[in-house]
Amino acid sequence: MTLSDTKPWWQGSFGYQIYIRSFADSNNDGYGDFQGIRSKIPYLKDLGIDFLWITPFYPSPMADWGYDVAEYCDIDSTFGNLDDFDALVGQAHESGIKIVADLVPNHTSDQHKWFKEARKGPENEFRDYYIWKDPAPDGGPPNNWVAYFGGPAWTFDETSGQYYMHLFLPEQPDLNWRNPKILEEFDQILRFWLERGVDGFRIDVAGGLMKDEQFRSNPEITPWDPEGDRWEQFESFEHRYDIFQEDNHEIFRRWRSIFDEHGAYLHGETYILEPSGLAELLPGDGLHGGFWFEPMHIEWDPDEIRRSVVEVSDLVGESILWAAGSHDMPRSPTRFGNDDTGRFRTLALNTLFSFLPGVPVIYQGEELGLIDGDVPEEHKLDPVALNDKQFGGRDGCRTPMPWSSSSNEGGHLIINGFSEVQPWLISKQRDASETAEAQIGKPDSWHSYYKELLHTRRSLPDLTGLEVTWLDSGQGPILWYERGPVGVVINTSSESELVKLSLDSEIVYKTPQVEMTEIGEEIVISGVGAFVYLRD
Ligand code: NOJ
Repeated sequence: MTLSDTKPWWQGSFGYQIYIRSFADSNNDGYGDFQGIRSKIPYLKDLGIDFLWITPFYPSPMADWGYDVAEYCDIDSTFGNLDDFDALVGQAHESGIKIVADLVPNHTSDQHKWFKEARKGPENEFRDYYIWKDPAPDGGPPNNWVAYFGGPAWTFDETSGQYYMHLFLPEQPDLNWRNPKILEEFDQILRFWLERGVDGFRIDVAGGLMKDEQFRSNPEITPWDPEGDRWEQFESFEHRYDIFQEDNHEIFRRWRSIFDEHGAYLHGETYILEPSGLAELLPGDGLHGGFWFEPMHIEWDPDEIRRSVVEVSDLVGESILWAAGSHDMPRSPTRFGNDDTGRFRTLALNTLFSFLPGVPVIYQGEELGLIDGDVPEEHKLDPVALNDKQFGGRDGCRTPMPWSSSSNEGGHLIINGFSEVQPWLISKQRDASETAEAQIGKPDSWHSYYKELLHTRRSLPDLTGLEVTWLDSGQGPILWYERGPVGVVINTSSESELVKLSLDSEIVYKTPQVEMTEIGEEIVISGVGAFVYLRD
């Protein structure tokens, strides 16, 4: 038996995040859909993708654009129906691409039938599906917990005179995971999709499911300003009692046995910015993996990059999912400069991630070097757009994929090859150079740099289980590691940097800034860039 017979399918794989409503629109209604994804399977296959993580597609009133689920075992008609879903799974599998869905177990929509029932009163059989508490003696919320989106994590319910809890919007009431019925409901939901052929789930808010049994108030670190920036509000408290409770693990252990029956990948949105915290969340018999978010919060500084990569890689290794961007943060090229420098920095970071233990994932459009779309203030749709003073909300990273230049066919304007009608999120049209059409097949395009990176990775020997050795000095602009026969060097500085390789090494990948003065011995990286070599 070889290693590849025994290792799980996700080890060594490369993921691609699809924000479904903005990916590809097959029926010109302004929303991406399943048929649209199907039409792009050849594109994704050609790029070298192994699995797609698709953001929530369940029926939803869309208060938080699908992360408010009104029915877990169906499809929102915006995206198609169950037959379309099955067809996508079938086609993706035929092309050797796996499908990972997004499970939202921390909360439902307030329009879910469970919550509609629960809110009828304390005697209702669904009441304990959610978290209800009497007011504090002064009539205010039961404790000081705040929502990730700002404001208190409690909303008063006039009918019963009690508060219900929500870590996000009031339209997203939190489920009560201490109620065994919830565990049973979700066993059924997971089996429903796994039996339909889903290859894994990304668990939304994986650290939030269990709450402190006594609902104690969190220690306040700085005075809480309920009108302030949503991040600052959340960071005003030490989150000792509301999130990352140890007994979350019991839930994941239970799910793990269901996932293992199907050979499916169970991983989480593990929003903890401490390497040791992530390591604690990922003990062997729970989640197979967890996203590491710190790289989405760093400045472009070699020490910060080192700090955000080396320790976690040593501690967590193969269980990490590496990502430079997502539908929740400004696109990485925007954070790192909003220009070509930002794009090269992102490519260098993705090159760094690609050969470390763990699973790299790129966000749709990253392969085109996209910076954030330009969404006029009056068209912003993210519910946090107003109180996210740091980033102005999440609309900029959610604009439609630019498949081609806008065109006028038969009198219809087709916006960036996405749809004839205004897309659901209105943004400035992209330049021709940003589109997939302009970049595919052109050697000096972002698409080609990414495609070559992914294909290089596929062509190299399997690195699973091999240790990482850092070869740089631990300071300065060069980051350099070797893992088995593969070495990766990135220059984080915009200055030229010389790297001497004493071994006979074949350069198997390089970004355009890399010049070799004497092949295999002296290599100059003129500005931010990266190369990958293979030792004899
Ligand atoms: C994390 C998701 O990625 C984000 O988009 C959503 O708003 C929250 N979880 C709440 O579900």
